Amino acid sequence: MSIRVALGERSYGIAITTSYRDLPARLGALTSSREGWVISHRSLLRRHGPELLRPLRRHGWTLRTVTIPESESSKTLAMAQRIIGVLSRTPRMCVPVLVAFGGGVVGDLAGFVAAVFRRGVPYVQVPTTLLAQVDSAIGGKVGVDLPHAKNMVGAFYHPLLVWNNLGVLDTLPLRQRRSGLAEVIKCGVIADGALFAFLETHLAECLSLRPRALRLIVERSCRIKAKIVARDERETQGLRAHLNFGHTLGHALEAATHYRRWSHGEAIAIGMCAAAELAVAMGICPELEFQRLVRLIRAAGLPTRARGVEAGRVLRVLRYDKKFIHGRPRWVLPTRIGGVIVTERVPAAAVRRVLQRYVG
Ligand SMILES: NC(=O)c1ccc[n+]([C@@H]2O[C@H](COP(=O)([O-])OP(=O)(O)OC[C@H]3O[C@@H](n4cnc5c(N)ncnc54)[C@H](O)[C@@H]3O)[C@@H](O)[C@H]2O)c1
Repeated sequence: MSIRVALGERSYGIAITTSYRDLPARLGALTSSREGWVISHRSLLRRHGPELLRPLRRHGWTLRTVTIPESESSKTLAMAQRIIGVLSRTPRMCVPVLVAFGGGVVGDLAGFVAAVFRRGVPYVQVPTTLLAQVDSAIGGKVGVDLPHAKNMVGAFYHPLLVWNNLGVLDTLPLRQRRSGLAEVIKCGVIADGALFAFLETHLAECLSLRPRALRLIVERSCRIKAKIVARDERETQGLRAHLNFGHTLGHALEAATHYRRWSHGEAIAIGMCAAAELAVAMGICPELEFQRLVRLIRAAGLPTRARGVEAGRVLRVLRYDKKFIHGRPRWVLPTRIGGVIVTERVPAAAVRRVLQRYVG
């Protein structure tokens, strides 16, 4: 099964499979290069590397690996520079293809390196977390964090291909599965009420990665993201911004806690609850829809509040966010399960009230 991200000559496919067996043939049709750098984590390469590297090498690929420490703290300019240093010291045979083999951290960082190394080399997203398969590997947003602001340096740079092997998710710890589910819940809220209802009734199967449920949620989420990216590639039409539901506060919480306390999915889970409550307070979302959201997020084992964080600090960090426009944060607010609006016109007093309830 393959989903197309339709972007003219930069279009690419998202394969949803259960192995890497057919990857070399698909990749071989997209590039004449047979030289690659796999960017990943050491533990991931130990666990799943052979199943990725073997078929590629059998098809004539020369592959080298470069590993980075796990966690968000690797998504920095310094780490990008380190990788570029390694790549640039290798004799140049042909244009190397970078293979981002990991979760969203590897994908964002490797994609960023691909965008700037030699003014751009091709890369492939081979996501290994649920979050990366349903969201971060798709859409070409690549970049790194600054200490005070997430994803502050980056580019739009699309991969040749996204290869989702559902099989590798088997080893994903429960916390990471939950984190990925947060992005699936987000897709349900912004665009697909039926997906949200499926999660409400099949949550246990999704969390335990039962094949049919897993395939359904990955496929539906990838379709939503592919469609939005194709219609508003650079977030200029107001549509791609819908994908930022939960991210206004979520990103601020991550930066305010130095990216250590919550995973990305956990932070946006809190952000989604706060945004939905804001929407209720503004009278644009029914209370019952808000309650459905909070119930699902709780049932998924995700946090709904940010205890022990200073609200003032979060407000300060909000100002550095890319979503801070004309002196105000930009919010994505649900109007129901399955629809959102984007607005900067949220009364500051309402934001403060909601922050007091959600943060601190
Ligand atoms: N570019 C985008 O559009 C976009 C969208 C959403 C999120 N993001 C970014 O994605 C990042 C979060 O990604 P993430 O949640 O995947 O976190 P992550 O990349 O940090 O991965 C989480 C952990 O799971 C481990 N792991 C990965 N695959 C595994 C597997 N198959 N089995 C066992 N362990 C495995 C990793 O080693 C890591 O320790 C954040 O930096 C966020 O900003 C980007």
